[in-house]
This record gives sequence, C-alpha cells and structure tokens, in this order.
Amino acid sequence: MANLQNFLQERQNLINNFLEKALKPKLLNKTAIAPERLWQAMSYSCLNGGKRLRGILCLATYEAFKPNYLAVLPIAAGLECIHAMSLVHDDLPCMDNDILRRGKPTCHIQFDTATALLAGDGLLIEGLALCLQADELNPQIMLKIMPEIMQAIGANGMTGGQSIDLENTNKNVSLLELENMHKLKTGAFLKASVLVSAMAAEATESQLKALEIYAEKIGLAFQIIDDLLDLEGDSAQIGKTAGKDLAQNKATYPKFLGLEQSKEKAQNLIEEAKLNLKQNHIYFEPLHQIADYIIQRKK
Ligand code: IPE
Ligand code: IPE
Ligand code: MG
Ligand code: MG
Ligand code: MG
Repeated sequence: MANLQNFLQERQNLINNFLEKALKPKLLNKTAIAPERLWQAMSYSCLNGGKRLRGILCLATYEAFKPNYLAVLPIAAGLECIHAMSLVHDDLPCMDNDILRRGKPTCHIQFDTATALLAGDGLLIEGLALCLQADELNPQIMLKIMPEIMQAIGANGMTGGQSIDLENTNKNVSLLELENMHKLKTGAFLKASVLVSAMAAEATESQLKALEIYAEKIGLAFQIIDDLLDLEGDSAQIGKTAGKDLAQNKATYPKFLGLEQSKEKAQNLIEEAKLNLKQNHIYFEPLHQIADYIIQRKK
C-alpha cells in the first residue's frame, strides 16, 4: 500500500493543479463574466480535497496501455469537476439535506441554496468543457468518449440513480432494486471513468469488456463501502455527517444485508474485479491496488 499512497498522491496533485489552473483565473475575475460569488462557490466545491478517485482511475487505466497518461489529464480533471457537481446537488436541502462535505460546510450552507444549484450547473458544464481539452487524443475517439460520459451522468446513469435514491427513501426495496440504484447513482460514472480512458488508449474490444466488468464491480463495492462508512465511521474521519443514511431511512446495503454480509459482498466484488483483470491479462498493478484501496479506505 505504501507505493499506492505515492501513486495516489502524485495523481491527486496532477488533477488538483490542473483544476486550479482551469478555475482560479476565472475566480480571480480575469476571464469570468459571471458574478464572482458563483465562481467562488464553484471553486469552493471543486478545489476542496476529495480522493479524486474517478480522475485517478482515468489516469491509471490509460497508463495500463500507454505511458503518456498526461494525454487524459484534462478528462481526469473534467470528471472530477462533474463529480463535484454531483456532490453539491446531492447535499442540497431537497436531496440529502447535508451540512458537511469534505470536512467543510456544504456549498449551500457556505453560500446559499440558489448559488449551490447554479454552482452545480456551472461545474457540470465546466467539467465537460475540460474533457474536451484533451487535444492529444484523436478527435474521432473524442466523438465516442463524450457521449459515453454524458450517458453515464444522465437520466440513464447518475441522475437517474439519484432520482431512484429519492424514490427508495422510506421504502423497503428488493436487493435487485438496491443494486440497480447503486449501479446507476455511483457505478455508471465510475465505470465511465475507466472505460473512456481505455477507449482513449485504444484498448481492444476484449480489453474494454474486461475493464467494464472490473469497473462495474469496483463501482458497486465503492457505494457499499460508502454506506458502511456512513454507518461505522465518524464525521471527523469521513468529512461527512455520519449516521445520516439511517436517520433519513435511506435504502442501503447494511440496511438490507447487515454489516457483515455487506462487507463480505464488497470484498467478493473486489476479488472478482481483480480476478477478471488477471484472466484477461491486464496486470497493471495500480488498477489491482486501487480495487483493494476501495474497500480499505477510511473515508
Ligand atoms: C462520494 O464520493 C459520493 C459517492 C458517489 C458515494 P467520494 O467518496 O469519491 O467523494 P470524494 O470525492 O472523495 O469527496
Ligand atoms: C451519492 O450517494 C451519490 C452521488 C451521485 C453523489 P450518497 O448520498 O451516499 O453520497 P454521500 O454519502 O452523500 O457522499
Ligand atoms: Mg445521496
Ligand atoms: Mg448524500
Ligand atoms: Mg453515502
């Protein structure tokens, strides 16, 4: 894991620096037309830490095939900008009504609800625009990548999953419904972070398939662990309000399966994900280690 820590840190720094350069000049009002307050809310919500897991998965997947992973850095940063949007909107009073994110007041608490709503919109569009800055990639490939990202965050992906999450609140759902919700609200975008990068690196059809299965499994495990951390972690450690899923009667894995079985499920998914990579001769170590990190993480 020591090596992985360095790997994660280096790539987090790359993504953070890229995002700073992209957002800060606008924040300092050199190039912004919109009110400074909106840019402040956007950078507050995007340049505030975060594990950068989606961006790191994007960089690592490309590196599994080609050494010049900086080619996909604009996409990695763009994905993190889009992810920041999803968090700002997830925390809104009309959604999870949360006051703590990444150890700080949520965007609507620090600013106000309307600003948070618009900051989310701004981050989404800015994120898509950043992805389009990956000009080292073949334009034909970009034409395939962009719809893949958009589908993953749209009504048949993350947005749809978030809508199902609200519908499933205060309701008893089946395991299949729970799995479908997790796959959409969290899994779809995580899968796209891997797949678009494999597409950019011109992976073969069978490699794409293998990575798709890997990403689906780690994506589901990721949300199961998120549910477990909500239950078992404390707010200072996770940087979010602990215990809120139970308080809000959310549909979660621990609620359905209990703690031990949920852990076992996540562990099995991670083992299956790694095995699937090996069976398809994808040995790039960081992809295997990131899978382990997803269940070992404490925040
Ligand atoms: C939190 O995502 C939201 C979910 C999809 C579970 P992360 O746990 O990746 O949040 P950050 O980016 O590290 O803050
Ligand atoms: C959110 O799931 C998934 C998103 C698409 C943002 P959660 O509501 O469990 O995420 P946290 O726990 O607030 O980060
Ligand atoms: Mg939520
Ligand atoms: Mg939430
Ligand atoms: Mg959660």
